[in-house]
Amino acid sequence: MVAQSIAGPVIRVRGLEKSYGKLEVLRGVDFDVARGSIFALLGSNGAGKTTVVRILATLLKADGGTASVNGFDVATRPADVRESFSLTGQFAAVDEILSGRENLVLVARLRHLKDPGAIADDLLRRFSLTDAGGRKVSTYSGGMRRRLDIAMSLIGNSPVIFLDEPTAGLDPEARIEVWHAVKELAGYGTTVLLTTQHLDEAEQLADRIAILHQGRIIANGTLAELKRLFPAASVEYVEKQPTLEEIFLSVIGGDDKSDTIGTSN
Ligand SMILES: Nc1ncnc2c1ncn2[C@@H]1O[C@H](COP(=O)(O)OP(=O)(O)OP(=O)(O)O)[C@@H](O)[C@H]1O
Ligand SMILES: [Mg+2]
Repeated sequence: MVAQSIAGPVIRVRGLEKSYGKLEVLRGVDFDVARGSIFALLGSNGAGKTTVVRILATLLKADGGTASVNGFDVATRPADVRESFSLTGQFAAVDEILSGRENLVLVARLRHLKDPGAIADDLLRRFSLTDAGGRKVSTYSGGMRRRLDIAMSLIGNSPVIFLDEPTAGLDPEARIEVWHAVKELAGYGTTVLLTTQHLDEAEQLADRIAILHQGRIIANGTLAELKRLFPAASVEYVEKQPTLEEIFLSVIGGDDKSDTIGTSN
């Protein structure tokens, strides 16, 4: 792990531009992410969320503007940037043939860490996978795989984690499991930048939310701040219906976890 090189925002993005041929995807993107916070980049399909993450992860070069991660400029200090983050993409990078525990031990060994078994057991516990730890990943549910994937990306204690659509393709119950895992990360001081198309996901998880639209950040703030952007609510008397998600979870006997994450309002 690279030492923190600055005070101030862990991720700093200024005037970021990127085009693919004639398609201008990013047209001057600015945002900061504070250390230890969860920041959600919200945008519809094709808004450029993955493009931002790929630039921050040094997998793609920007056409203009600057970005830094953990105090290191992505253009001039890419090796230091790479030491500072871990990335979890949309498709889990776990090995199906191995057990969950074996996957974790493998990554810890690859990173030359001491006592890979203890590291694996600690992560299995933190991500509620202790019971499943000895089973082949091929028998895991989608939510369990994602949790294992996130756990794997934590090995080595990167100060920053990028999660590109961490709950894409998961059912509501598995999404809540992953939300717990993400909150857990931030609880341990990791800075999380996640992308999502789901308003409710940003609402549940993020300390700050930025909306990427037509190449720019059109809104950026806490949920309370974003709510203030809208005109004051008028009072209407309506019967409050549960959301489909609440119904789904109550019918399947939603577990205790749903209480703490707060799916109801
Ligand atoms: N390598 C590429 N070549 C050409 N166009 C690309 C390339 N990568 C992305 N694009 C285009 O850039 C735009 C932004 O893509 P990007 O993947 O960043 O969006 P996104 O916000 O992550 O979308 P999604 O929610 O679907 O994941 C899209 O129109 C996409 O088709
Ligand atoms: Mg994407």
